[in-house]
Amino acid sequence: MIDVDLLPDGIVIADAEGLVTRVNRAASRILRRRPDELIGSHVATALPLDDLAGNSWFACLRPYDGLATRTRLSEGSWHTPDGVELLVTATLVREAPLEPVKQLVVSLRTAKARAHRDRVRSDLVATVAHELRSPLTGVKGFTATLLNNWDRFSDEQRQLMLETVDSDADRLSRLITDLLDAARIDSGRLTLRPQPLDLVEATQRVLENISAGSGLSLDVTAEEDLPRVWVDADRYAQVVTNLVENAQRHGMGVREIVLRRPTRFPDGVALEVFDFGPGIPEEIRTRVFTRFWRSGDRGGTGLGLYVVKGVVDAHGGEIEVCDGDRGGACVGVWFPENLPEVLREIPRP
Ligand SMILES: Nc1ncnc2c1ncn2[C@@H]1O[C@H](COP(=O)(O)OP(=O)(O)O)[C@@H](O)[C@H]1O
Ligand SMILES: [Mg+2]
Repeated sequence: MIDVDLLPDGIVIADAEGLVTRVNRAASRILRRRPDELIGSHVATALPLDDLAGNSWFACLRPYDGLATRTRLSEGSWHTPDGVELLVTATLVREAPLEPVKQLVVSLRTAKARAHRDRVRSDLVATVAHELRSPLTGVKGFTATLLNNWDRFSDEQRQLMLETVDSDADRLSRLITDLLDAARIDSGRLTLRPQPLDLVEATQRVLENISAGSGLSLDVTAEEDLPRVWVDADRYAQVVTNLVENAQRHGMGVREIVLRRPTRFPDGVALEVFDFGPGIPEEIRTRVFTRFWRSGDRGGTGLGLYVVKGVVDAHGGEIEVCDGDRGGACVGVWFPENLPEVLREIPRP
């Protein structure tokens, strides 16, 4: 028999009459009462728990009467008089089915971890909402200005505003795509439409798109005669866009974008994005791929690298964070020449 005082959860045991017979150390701490104050009292007073509407736990769940087939009380969230939230469950011990309750064993767990999780989740919603709102503010600002003062602007000014609206709209759409893809990766439903792709051409196309929207001029340095690799073109564009965006946002700008034969892997093509920034510290390199993980004050949803890794994994490739040889960060992804066996089986639309 284990010693109930060693359990991390609070345990309160009451007899057939509802009088408390045993209280472990955790329960005494959670209820802020000494065991001898609790033992012998009725469980309804020993556990003065209620919900936010003021209903008492004992009156609601009626452990001793109520349905005679019950053997446990399902977990619920209840509050102590000092407002601490507890997760409460109980076992109803009966001699035989339908016999009266002989013993009531109540388990109390502080809901701190859950409250923390809830808080993290709502912070997350706030972050994502904020990231969605900034480009939207730009879109709304310029469209409203143009609608109200169309005649006051020159063609050139209108063109400039519409370009900004266009790139803000693209950014919004990318954020939403990342959100949806993160959900797909979570549930293992990320689908690929791979085709033999020339990554040099594909990368140039993406960089042209980014350049057109941002006024940056980005180019790729590629080794000669790279093989085509089986890659989903849209997903590849997502990888490049995210890595370039990170280099801009966290790495003080793109230093170089390289395509070459990988040294660490047998075949395929590696894409490396170098930047001018402070680099990614060793100790967070494994964490940057975690969903919603981000650091620093440069905004972002923390979804980018999670999605990039998900896409690369789906192709059977690898992703790696290193130090650039001339300082800054280097994020490299490798795509194997052929899709892994399992992925090739999937019919391609
Ligand atoms: N090139 C980089 N240089 C420095 N830090 C980086 C770089 N790329 C990513 N990071 C770090 O990794 C975190 C996660 O990146 P990511 O998943 O793209 O999220 P986000 O860009 O939305 O913050 C970033 O918040 C940043 O701290
Ligand atoms: Mg990012």
